[in-house]
Amino acid sequence: MTIMSFLDQELEKDLLRFTLAGSVDDGKSTLIGRLLHDAQGVYEDQVASIRQATAKRGGGENEIDFALLTDGLKAEREQGITIDVAYRYFATAKRKFIIADTPGHVQYTRNMATGASTANLAIILIDASLGVLTQSRRHGFIASLLGINHIIVAVNKMDLVDYDEQVFDRIKKDYTDFVARVAMRDLTFIPVSALKGDNVVERSDLMPWYQGAPLLEQLESVHIASDRNLVDLRFPVQFVQRPNADFRGYAGTVASGVVRVGDEVMALPSRQKTRVKSIVTFDGELEQAFSGQAVTVTLEDEIDLSRGEMLIHPNNRPREQQRLETMLVWMSEKPAVKGVQCMVQHTSRIVPCRLTDVKYVMDMDTLHRKTEQTLQLNDIARVVLDVNRPLFVDSYEKNRNTGALILIDRLTNETIAAGMIIEREPAKHPEGIVKVDVKARNLTTHRGEVTTAQRQELLKQKGAVIWLTGLSGCGKSSLAFALEKRLIQDGHLAYVLDGDNVRQGLNADLGFSPEDRAENIRRIGETSALMADLGAITIAAFISPYRSDRDQARLAAPEGGFFEIHLDVSLAECERRDPKGLYRKARAGEIPDFTGIDAPYEAPENPELVLPAEEITVEEEVDRVIALLRKHGVLLD
Ligand code: ADX
Repeated sequence: MTIMSFLDQELEKDLLRFTLAGSVDDGKSTLIGRLLHDAQGVYEDQVASIRQATAKRGGGENEIDFALLTDGLKAEREQGITIDVAYRYFATAKRKFIIADTPGHVQYTRNMATGASTANLAIILIDASLGVLTQSRRHGFIASLLGINHIIVAVNKMDLVDYDEQVFDRIKKDYTDFVARVAMRDLTFIPVSALKGDNVVERSDLMPWYQGAPLLEQLESVHIASDRNLVDLRFPVQFVQRPNADFRGYAGTVASGVVRVGDEVMALPSRQKTRVKSIVTFDGELEQAFSGQAVTVTLEDEIDLSRGEMLIHPNNRPREQQRLETMLVWMSEKPAVKGVQCMVQHTSRIVPCRLTDVKYVMDMDTLHRKTEQTLQLNDIARVVLDVNRPLFVDSYEKNRNTGALILIDRLTNETIAAGMIIEREPAKHPEGIVKVDVKARNLTTHRGEVTTAQRQELLKQKGAVIWLTGLSGCGKSSLAFALEKRLIQDGHLAYVLDGDNVRQGLNADLGFSPEDRAENIRRIGETSALMADLGAITIAAFISPYRSDRDQARLAAPEGGFFEIHLDVSLAECERRDPKGLYRKARAGEIPDFTGIDAPYEAPENPELVLPAEEITVEEEVDRVIALLRKHGVLLD
């Protein structure tokens, strides 16, 4: 069990986790020491011994070197913690706090990113005598990247600038200008002197111009209860407990969402379904467990589920991906280049991966994108990772647990990067979709006298586009032709457009680059729309791996007449079936850009229907599609 999950259980009450970003010179240790001391979060005897140590170092009698205090605590806490983060705990009457302290000064970003990933709030320290530095910007950027909702900028060392309001205002303005370009939700500035204790716990008499609350009061009152993700159940299994033949439990921390006894759950990647039998903890059984709680779950049936795998609710699934678009904070002294191999840790799973592409590196002063190909220590960059087994991920924006990862050096076991999984450049639907430019000029739209209603009357159906999407080998063509047959038997006009076929005719000029696939889908989207207008039920069976391409096809179709159906078969299963032997060839490097192997597949987020095609027969699939069409009034008999 990690320290965090232990503390979590102990301190179920109102708990605020925060991190402090700043280097040693900014007065980080001093601020923590001051906070702990003035909030009376440390024991008297510890203070006494520090007082002595300070005196030995030549400090005055009543001065306390707070840096000594925190460094002492740090040593105690560091044991047993794998990443460079020391967790420190204190409480006031109002709230309990965990400071994820990130010691060290050189690798500040590394420390910040690893310590910050569970934080509710970040304090960014700025030295009033130095103003806003690149590093202060970097800290802010990382905090926003990590989705930390609340940020306090503590402008420290106000004593060195004579508690001057103008200095504070200038820093506030500089930083606000920068922040305007970054997504930051809740930002507060406080002028403090950690050394003298101004505005840390006690309000300062020396800065009457500052009307806001001192730091501790801010920390006590910031509202965080609604920041947790209680919607999407993700329970990564940390280990399987099998104390005897009668008991099998799955231990782990609920990464997000809520799990209840009796819930129907699905195991990933096996996709087996069962129900939750019980939820066990040290203190007895629970009816439900929330995001952040460490529990052991037992299930009604024996299913395939081991370390690193995941329990979810069947109708709320993460994305299964082997190619990850990420923002990385590079933390190793050793620069990274394209092609680097390492291990990725994602929830409780560790798998080999390769850094396939560096899209850009952020310039921290201007927030511009630099087209560097090499990542240096502390660089923040947009990077593509290829993982050698599929992971079950969410975007970091949606889920700070299943959307986060760290990279580990294969030889030294060192953490070399922290990353956040992002959505591929979002296709905003419908406004953001880039329609293909119309090349020709001087065009008019003509309309005939025959109405859509007349054609519907003639054919006893509404024209529609049934869009089947899924990996190669998932059964799109089989379903398409079975569906076509059933519809025709039932007296409906239906026609299949199939990827392999169309690519030998209409789209013979297209390959499998993202651009060619987009054009493939665009033409088919337009063709399907024409056929739907004719009144036919068009069944399009294409991998169509990119969400934005499918969205565009939807846009072309008649309003309400587009049915996106996902044949949800795992990559492992498609590869096992390998009906055309293509996966084998792709693995051997003979087919480049093969979907699922070295080209992405983006599962639909809101399809009209998901077919669990591994579990049901083609006839059952046909039944479900027909039911969907009836429900939406496509078949008018
Ligand atoms: S799509 O991605 O543009 O929608 P489409 O469905 O038309 O693909 O064609 C996919 C079919 O082409 C596959 O079923 C497979 O038989 C064949 N194929 C050949 N090369 C590739 C490749 N690199 N990736 C995916 N499919 C490929």
